[in-house]
Amino acid sequence: MLTRQRTIILIIKYLIMSELLKLNQVNLTYQTGIDNIKVLKDIDLKTMKKETISFVGESGSGKTSLIMLIAGLEKVTSGQIFFRNQDITRLSEDEVSKIRRKNIGIIFQSFYLIPNYTAVENVALTLELNKFKDPQNEAKELLERFGLKHRLNNLPSQLSGGEQQRVAIARAIATKPELILADEPTGNLDSENSAMISEILFNYVKEEGSSLILVTHDEKLADKAQRKIEIKDGKID
Ligand SMILES: Nc1ncnc2c1ncn2[C@@H]1O[C@H](COP(=O)(O)OP(=O)(O)OP(=O)(O)O)[C@@H](O)[C@H]1O
Ligand SMILES: [Mg+2]
Repeated sequence: MLTRQRTIILIIKYLIMSELLKLNQVNLTYQTGIDNIKVLKDIDLKTMKKETISFVGESGSGKTSLIMLIAGLEKVTSGQIFFRNQDITRLSEDEVSKIRRKNIGIIFQSFYLIPNYTAVENVALTLELNKFKDPQNEAKELLERFGLKHRLNNLPSQLSGGEQQRVAIARAIATKPELILADEPTGNLDSENSAMISEILFNYVKEEGSSLILVTHDEKLADKAQRKIEIKDGKID
């Protein structure tokens, strides 16, 4: 029989291993000329592996900024961000980008597809960077699953908003990352496309056991997440 102390240690170990993200008193201030804009204020947040979370809040409340910090694409002004118990605010840009490339898939508010790459090339590039064996074929298969078989060789400018969004999602999940960050993944879509994108995303995280953090103004989409967090004026409400 386990002693009480050993049981407690095992539970603590389990909780530490299940933790994916921890934000500790995170602040972000942008300096614009002589002005300081305090965008995020004393953010504390813990998320677990496989958890799905939605961030909601008014325009300008700091949702995208928070996603950028978690992705390591923006630097905190103060505070710490732990990804799998490693403080990424203490790492060099190169070290953070290695962690990001391997573990985090990002769907940006404004897609950021490479304009002179076709749909399939946009997805294959991520797979190539992660040294996958057959990037072109894997990219093709994924895009076909997303209903883009007839658009594989189109440039982003030759795709509709919904199609570009599906390419951006395919790119973000191609390497099966542990964490997906999605900033307004259905922002510019009609209700039919929104429903499709939301189904793709939530099915994917369920199948792969990934974690999803999404930002959305769409209440229906926000409610699909296990936890809904409101950001109000740079603070977690
Ligand atoms: N690079 C920057 N320099 C200065 N201010 C910035 C910068 N980026 C964002 N901001 C400001 O920070 C605040 C938060 O911006 P953020 O993009 O995080 O908002 P958001 O909640 O994602 O809004 P939306 O719902 O409109 O996308 C805004 O007031 C914005 O003007
Ligand atoms: Mg935003």
